[in-house]
Amino acid sequence: ANATPVVTLPRVQAHRGASGVRPENTMTSFREALAQGASWTEFDVKLSKDGVPLLYHDKDLKRTSGREGLIKDFTFAELQDFEAGAWFGAEYAGEKIPSFEEVMQFHIDNGMQANIEFKPSDGEEDETVKAVVEMLERIWPKDRPKPLFSSFKHRCLEVARDIAPAYPRGLLTYDELDNWKADAERLVCAAIHPWHKTLTPDLVKAFKQAGYGIATYTVNDPVRARELVAMGVDSIITDHPAVMIDALS
Ligand code: G3P
Ligand code: MG
Repeated sequence: ANATPVVTLPRVQAHRGASGVRPENTMTSFREALAQGASWTEFDVKLSKDGVPLLYHDKDLKRTSGREGLIKDFTFAELQDFEAGAWFGAEYAGEKIPSFEEVMQFHIDNGMQANIEFKPSDGEEDETVKAVVEMLERIWPKDRPKPLFSSFKHRCLEVARDIAPAYPRGLLTYDELDNWKADAERLVCAAIHPWHKTLTPDLVKAFKQAGYGIATYTVNDPVRARELVAMGVDSIITDHPAVMIDALS
């Protein structure tokens, strides 16, 4: 019952969309990722106060919306009045915080695949996973491979494993790698998503020997990307998908 679902990782994933040239986690960033030839994107999901899953990296509104306060303290309707683009450039003013539903519908309409990173606000691990799974069960075509889930939060992967075992899971790691094997086994992961600066040939070999796919973040230097692929990394998560597709083809 707990067999690991398989994931076929793409060579390149557009990190928060094409966030090198567009405001991260917005619709224009995903349209640009598609225009740059990306078949997969990665993005960050959390909940509004009224439980609507949406795309936003930070827990607070300061950096990309220029406001005080936390995402989780505003309803989705209230958040629609806030900026998500102007911080990146005046030409993106008016860009909104997108709902998870709108972003997934865009992926469906354009035949794209997604690495959905659970980035819950504090204490909202369970609800965030449940809301994402509910939406996917409602709108994601049954005949297409299921999107990939990932998280630094073990609780999110645990809930996903238990309520939606058919969705493949990737274990995100930062600089703490001592327990990767036990964690990946317990959370029944298909892939490991390490920070690229922690990767060595031996570690990549160990991941592969244990049977895991490897998607590493965030790589914007083509030379480094080629080195990582030569080590055995499957997938490069990048802010500049076109540059990476070109460098790795
Ligand atoms: O999923 C890979 C990467 O997005 C993890 O870090 O902070 O960019 O969400 P972060
Ligand atoms: Mg992310």
